[in-house]
Amino acid sequence: MVKRFFIIQLIILVGFSVQLFGQSLSVHDLTVNFKRNPMGTTQNPRFSWKLKSDLRNTVQESYSISVSTNPEFTHENLVWETGKVNSSQSVLIPYTGKELKSGEKYFWRVEVWDNHGNKSGWSKELAWWQTGRLDKSEWKAKWIQGVDVVDSINGPALYFRKKFESRGKIVSATLYATSHGMYDPFMNGQRIGDSYFAPGWTSYSKRLQYQVYDVTELIKAGENVIGASVASGWFRTRISNHRELWGKKLSLYMQLEVKYENGKTEYICTDDSWKVTDKGPIRFSELYDGEFYDATMENTGWLSPAYDEAHWKKVETLNISVQNLISTEIEPVREIETISPKRVFQTPKGEWVVDFGQNMVGWVELSISGKTGTTIQIWHGEILDKDGNFYNGNLRTAKQKNTYILKGKGKEVFHPSFTFQGFRYIKVEGFPDRPKQENFKGIVLHSDLSVTGSFECSNPLLNQLYQNILWTQKGNFLEVPTDCPQRDERLGWTGDAQLFLKTAMFNMNVYSFFSKWLKDLAVDQSPEGKIPPVVPNILENFGGSSAGWADAAMIIPWHLYLHYGDTLILKNQYESMKAYVDFLLDNSTGHLRNKSHHFGDWLFYSPVNDRSGKAAVTEKDLLGQSFFAHSTQLLVNAAKTLNKIDDVEYYSIELNKIKAAFMQEFVSPNGRLTSNTQTAYSLALAFDLFPENMRDKAVERLIKNINDYQGHITTGIVGTSYISNVLTRYGKTDIAYKMLLKETNPGWLYQVKKGATTIWERWDGIQEDGSFQTASMNSFNHYALGSIGNWIYNTIAGIQRDADAPGGRNMIIHPIPGGGITSAKGIYDSPYGEIVSQWEIIDSAFVLKVSVPANSTAVVYLPSEEAGKIAEKGNIKTKSKEMKILSSAEGYTKILIGSGDYTFEINNDTD
Ligand code: BGC
Repeated sequence: MVKRFFIIQLIILVGFSVQLFGQSLSVHDLTVNFKRNPMGTTQNPRFSWKLKSDLRNTVQESYSISVSTNPEFTHENLVWETGKVNSSQSVLIPYTGKELKSGEKYFWRVEVWDNHGNKSGWSKELAWWQTGRLDKSEWKAKWIQGVDVVDSINGPALYFRKKFESRGKIVSATLYATSHGMYDPFMNGQRIGDSYFAPGWTSYSKRLQYQVYDVTELIKAGENVIGASVASGWFRTRISNHRELWGKKLSLYMQLEVKYENGKTEYICTDDSWKVTDKGPIRFSELYDGEFYDATMENTGWLSPAYDEAHWKKVETLNISVQNLISTEIEPVREIETISPKRVFQTPKGEWVVDFGQNMVGWVELSISGKTGTTIQIWHGEILDKDGNFYNGNLRTAKQKNTYILKGKGKEVFHPSFTFQGFRYIKVEGFPDRPKQENFKGIVLHSDLSVTGSFECSNPLLNQLYQNILWTQKGNFLEVPTDCPQRDERLGWTGDAQLFLKTAMFNMNVYSFFSKWLKDLAVDQSPEGKIPPVVPNILENFGGSSAGWADAAMIIPWHLYLHYGDTLILKNQYESMKAYVDFLLDNSTGHLRNKSHHFGDWLFYSPVNDRSGKAAVTEKDLLGQSFFAHSTQLLVNAAKTLNKIDDVEYYSIELNKIKAAFMQEFVSPNGRLTSNTQTAYSLALAFDLFPENMRDKAVERLIKNINDYQGHITTGIVGTSYISNVLTRYGKTDIAYKMLLKETNPGWLYQVKKGATTIWERWDGIQEDGSFQTASMNSFNHYALGSIGNWIYNTIAGIQRDADAPGGRNMIIHPIPGGGITSAKGIYDSPYGEIVSQWEIIDSAFVLKVSVPANSTAVVYLPSEEAGKIAEKGNIKTKSKEMKILSSAEGYTKILIGSGDYTFEINNDTD
C-alpha cells in the first residue's frame, strides 16, 4: 500500500517534469545509519544522502555507490560498487559488498541521476565510517581493578596509567575502551576525544557500550603514556534510593591497537602491568550530589613517561566476560553550547548568586585565581524563591554541589568530569573577592543530536513556549530520555518518553538515541512480557504494565518507523512488542484488563485544596483498557508493515474484543464515559475506541468539559499528549487554540508568564501567589507537558508526517491559522532535507510558502475550495505540469507538489 502510494506520486511528478539540461544537481549530508562519519559501527551500514537541485519536481532516478578502504577509491581498494542502480531510494540503502573487517575505516561516495537528465557526479564530502569489533574473540584486553586503593561509592576517582613504547612508523592507532563506572581516557597529557560520561548508560549487565577513539595523532615515536580516570557514574552511584546497582568496584577495559607501516599490529591492553592510584584530585564524584575536586592533589605529569609512579599501586585482572560488550550506537554527550551569565548579584539573604538566564543542564566552568587551599563551593538551583533568594528545595536529597580547592598557581579553570547539574542559578561561596561574570561559563551538555526543527510565529509567548520545549529536550536527552535532570531521580521514565516522542522527533534527530534505548527496554522486559516503568531498569520489583508507561514498548517503535521510514526498528522490536501485548492479553478477563498498578493521568489538574470535586481524575482502569487497545492496534500496524499476515489476523480479532470490552465497561449506551474528563475522552477518540456514530457526541462532551473549566486544559501528562490533536482531527482547532493561549493556570502560557525558560513538571510549579508547589514533586525541567510541540508543528506550522509514505517521502502541509496569530514558520529537516511551511495573513490574503526537498513530495492544503482563487506565479489551475490538484472539499484545495520552493497566494475575497 505504502509502496504503491509512492510510485503513483512519483510517476505523476516525473511525468510533469520538464527536460532541462545543464542544471545543477548535487548530493550532500551523507550519513551511515543516519549518522555522519560514525566510529565503531558494528551494525550493517545503511547509506543515506540528500539531493540538491535548482529545479522543481526533482526525483532521483538512479544512484551509484562505491565503498573503498582508501579515500582515493583506487580500484584495488574497492569493496563495493553498486554500479548504476535504477532506484529512487536515497535513504537507508543497506551495504551488500565484500565482508567488512573489524577496526577498518571505509570511505564511501555516491552519485545520482535525476528525472531532468542531470547527473550529480561523485559526492564531494569525505564520507566514511569505521567498523568496531565485529567478533567477540578479538577482545584481547583484561578487565583491571585497583588493589589496595580506596574504591568505594563515596570515595575518590581512581587513576590508571601504563607506559608503552611505539616501535616504528604508525599508520593508525585506535583505542577501544569501556569501564565499570564512568571514565575519561588520556594519552600523553591530553584528554582523548571530546565526549563525556563514557561508557554512557545502558542496562550494564546485559549491554555495556565500548567507545572507539582515533588516537593516531596523539601517539609519539618512542615512549608514551595511556591512562584513564574512573569514577562511580551511573554504574554504582546512588540512583533514586538505590546504590551500587551494577557493582561495587570500579574497573577499566582498554585495548589500544597500533598499526605500523611494516604491516604489524601491536596491542596495548589493560593487564596486570598497569598502575593505579586513588590519590588524585577528584576526591568524590556522584551524579546527584556533585564533585569535590582538590587541585592541590593533582598528580602533575602523571601522563608523561618520566613521571615517577613508585607510590602507585598494583592492579589485578578480573575474569569478566566480554559477551555484554556492544558498540556505541548513540551520539555521545558533548559540550554543545556555552552560556554567559546574565548577572551576578547578592540576594536579600546576602548570598552571592549567578543567573545564567536559562534553565540548563551541564556544568559551570569556573575561572579563578587565588591562594592555595582556597575552597570554592557552587550550589545549583533552578529558581529563586518569591523573595528573590536562592532555592534548591525541589532537588529533594540531591545536593548538586561542586567544590573546588585552588592549587594557587595563577589562573585556574575547573569543571567537573563525572557529574552534571540542572540549573539556571548558582550560589557561590568562598570567593576571595566579589564573584564576577567572567568567573563563570555555563556549559550545556547533552547527547549530540542534531537539531532538525524550528518554529516561530507572530505570538511571542508561543515562541517562548517553543524555546522552553526545546531547552527541556536538550536538558533531558542525555544518554537516555529522562524525566528530569536535577533532583534525585533523572530516570528513563517510559511514559514521559513516549508522550514527548512526537515532539522530540521534530526537534532533533533522535533515531539512534531511541533505537538504542529500545534495545535496553527489550532486554529489561520481564520473561512474561512486562515493561519496566524506567529504562534502564533500576527497580527490582516493578509493576510492569502501567498504562501509558509500559506502552512505550509499542508507541516508540511505531512512531520512529513513521518518522524515519525504517522498518528495521520494527523488526528489531517486534518480539518485544508482541510479548507485551501477549502479556496484556494473558492478564485480562473477557478482554478486560485485570486490575493492576497504573500511575494514571499523572499530575492532572486539581485545584489547590480541592474540595470542589473539580479534580480531573481519570479512572485508572479506563486508562488501562484504552492503552490495551492502542497497543494492540500498533501491533497490528507493525505486523501489517512487516507482512506478518497471521499476526495481523489474530491480533485484529483480539483488538475488536478489547474495544468491545471497553465499550461495555466504560461507556454508557448513550456514549458517556465513566470518567468525565478531558483525558478520558481524548484517549477514547485518539485510539478510535468509540464506534463512528458515537464520536461526534464524544467530541461535544470533551468540549463541554473544556468549557466547564473556562477553556482550560486540565489533563495530566497522559491526556496532554493527545487532546489538542484530537480537537484538530474533529475540526475543533479553535478550541485547541483557546486552550493553548490561556495565560492563567492550568495552561502552557501560565508557565511562560511566570518566567519559565523550560517546561515544568506541574502546570503550576509556581502558584499564583508566587509560592512553590510541594517540593517533593516540583521539577522545573520536565518535558512531558511539552508534548504540545507536536501540535505546534502539525497545526500552527502545518508540517505533518504522512503515514502512507513514512520517513518524509511525502509530507503533508496543512497549517490551520487561529488564535489571532498572523504569521508562522516551521522547518523540519527530514531524511530528504528541509521542508519549510511559512504562512502569513496579509489583509484578506493568505500567503503560504512551502519548500519541499528533492526526491520527496508534499500534499498541500490550500484554504479555498476554489482553485481559481489560488495563485502560484499564476493560477494553479494553469500549472498542471508542475502540480496536481487532488481534491477541492471542506474548505480546501488539496494539491500534490514535488520538490522546490513555492509561494501560494489565496485570496478568498476575489471573485
Ligand atoms: C517522574 C514522572 C514519572 C512518574 C511516574 C515521577 O517521579 O518524575 O515524570 O513519569 O514519576 O508516575
